Amino acid sequence: MDADALEREGLAAAAAASSANAIEVVRVEYLGRKSALKQALREVRDRETGMALNAARERLEGAIDARESELARAELDARLTTESVDVTLPVGGFSRGKLHLITQIRREVEDVFLGLGYSVVDGREVETIHYNFDALNFPAGHPARSPLATLFVDETTVLRTETSPSQVRTMEVQEPPVYIVSLGRTYRRDTPDATHSPIFHQVEGLAVDEGITLADLTGTLDFLLRKLFGEKRRTEFRTHYFPFTEPSIEAYVSCHVCDGDGCPVCRHSGWIEVGGAGMVDPAVFAAVGYDPERYSGFAFGWGLERIAMLRHEFPDLRELWRNDLRFSRQF
Ligand code: PHE
Repeated sequence: MDADALEREGLAAAAAASSANAIEVVRVEYLGRKSALKQALREVRDRETGMALNAARERLEGAIDARESELARAELDARLTTESVDVTLPVGGFSRGKLHLITQIRREVEDVFLGLGYSVVDGREVETIHYNFDALNFPAGHPARSPLATLFVDETTVLRTETSPSQVRTMEVQEPPVYIVSLGRTYRRDTPDATHSPIFHQVEGLAVDEGITLADLTGTLDFLLRKLFGEKRRTEFRTHYFPFTEPSIEAYVSCHVCDGDGCPVCRHSGWIEVGGAGMVDPAVFAAVGYDPERYSGFAFGWGLERIAMLRHEFPDLRELWRNDLRFSRQF
């Protein structure tokens, strides 16, 4: 085959190549080790033919290189056009994070009590059975002391089942008058359902002074209920039992789902329990060295999840911890 014909064919193939891959194929076909040109160069016997073939090879190489960089530039141009970012376009709005609903309610309750002159104190989530049970007058064998009800860390340490241990810790280090609230996580071995969770939150309140009566307690709780729920819902206090209060009461609010008619959420009673309360039992005063003849006091412990449900009328507290933004963003 003559050099001219080979060159013309190669140049035409290079010009027709339309991508980086295609030009590589042309290079192998016309300049590769098995190409006709390389074959001819190996077999050449006279100087003239050799020079002509070499010159053809050089021109072909130049043409293929040129076509290759032309294609590379075109491909880059195409990418730059399609992948370009128009920095002058307006950006979408930034969404701002907010506090979790429980944190919002926690701060709101703290604010209500700070406004009444109370202090906010911290408690411990890992407690000894002394503070969680003994000092709170739980008798030996009380069902709450069972590992079926309470999460034990070891034999003498539990995840606190209520915020009430912070009553004891406060009274141990402070003389009356005492006006405190303490809010935080509590733990029980409960099976999750619409109104129970093994991890939940409580607000504990404690007031100890001379001359405190049950009327101070119900007045304070009524004030809190009005602050939290407004006038729309009815409230009710019923007698109850707690080892660390005597007498004990339980606060109820009319059910937000059925408004008192009875439904699965309120277990067909029409009422939802918000939490317990009562007058501090003299046995608790004895445990912390307060004189029960001189001082009296009240305490209460309410669940923040229940407050959240009643406030915002959602039927299942598990929604609070599913982290579904469609839910969380509403608050
Ligand atoms: N600790 C009780 C509970 O978790 C609530 C409570 C607190 C009751 C303070 C009376 C006084 O159920």
